[in-house]
Amino acid sequence: MRRCELAILPGDGIGPEVTAAALEVLGVLAGELARGGLEIAWTCHPVGGAALAQGLPPLPEETLRAALAADGVLLGAVGAPQWDHLPPAERPESALIALREAMGVYANLRPASGRGALGGRSPLRGEVAGLDLLLVRELTGGLYYGRPRGREGVRPGRRAVDTMAYGEDEIRRVAHVAFRAARRRRRRLTSVDKRNVLETSALWREVVDDVHEEYPDVRLEHQLVDSMALRLVASPASFDVVLAENMFGDILSDEIGGIVGSLGVLPSASVGDGRGLYEPVHGSAPDIAGQDAANPLGAILSLALCCELSLDRPDLARRVEEAVEGALALGLRTADIATGRRGERLCGTREMAGAVAALLADRLGSGAALGEIYA
Ligand code: IPM
Ligand code: MG
Repeated sequence: MRRCELAILPGDGIGPEVTAAALEVLGVLAGELARGGLEIAWTCHPVGGAALAQGLPPLPEETLRAALAADGVLLGAVGAPQWDHLPPAERPESALIALREAMGVYANLRPASGRGALGGRSPLRGEVAGLDLLLVRELTGGLYYGRPRGREGVRPGRRAVDTMAYGEDEIRRVAHVAFRAARRRRRRLTSVDKRNVLETSALWREVVDDVHEEYPDVRLEHQLVDSMALRLVASPASFDVVLAENMFGDILSDEIGGIVGSLGVLPSASVGDGRGLYEPVHGSAPDIAGQDAANPLGAILSLALCCELSLDRPDLARRVEEAVEGALALGLRTADIATGRRGERLCGTREMAGAVAALLADRLGSGAALGEIYA
């Protein structure tokens, strides 16, 4: 039997709750994976504020080692208000920046769909139903990594600097990821930049055009990031694959969460040359942490991406997605996606996760009849 090890990094805020939800679903998958000849094991490690609270750095060496040795990494969220006073390089979030770089996961895939119940809270109503896009965000370059960076001087003459820099190779490799994804989808790619102002964007556009020559069957358009922000709300259903550099992608992915109605349902997979890193797009949401109020679907759908991309079981990924759709079809809604319509029932993190796990077990033929649970 093959063996596969996942590193689990629950992190801060609602991270541990949504991670526990994903692990409940993984527990159901483990039986099915074993039947397919894959034994799955996992270990948990501190990261972010959870590590700081133990007197460790945000990304402890032991956590990094485990992440690099694992076949895949599942992360909850990092960030907590009690560390807000720290400089950026010491904050919980720095763990994520360092981990992504160390793992070499340069392409962050953020799929979003307005199908079914997920769009219920969208401010755009009808428009969002047809939304089905994949944001490919460059993840290990640009402003979040550029040097020089730092501060100098004293009040009132302080200065701070960040650097946006991109090498041709960094743009090319993530562009290939986006074009390949477009080929598996509707063969349309929108590349985002700020070519009218930024040097990095001018290079970005040139390199994306070069890579396009290898994918003549994909229709490519370029879009300035400011008008992209507008087009996304005006006609969200008109996009297939969207490619953006690190910061533009960070901002646009939250906008997409707003369009869909909640960030809580959006999963992500970060891929590169090595192993994958899977995390929900929502942050640590400290205001609702520990209240069983977080939406676990982003984390559960991130686990589905892990099944597909790291465990090579796209069939199981589909079963997980169907189980999520099934839980929503039963009317279950965490607070972030509740609309108060008839047929809905407000539920907590654990109940939602339990329903998805039970539906999945049912689909895989390994669980108690669902009728008994949700009669
Ligand atoms: C995200 C988050 C992170 C990022 C933060 C927490 C460092 O906003 O994954 O979108 O900026 O990448
Ligand atoms: Mg973000």
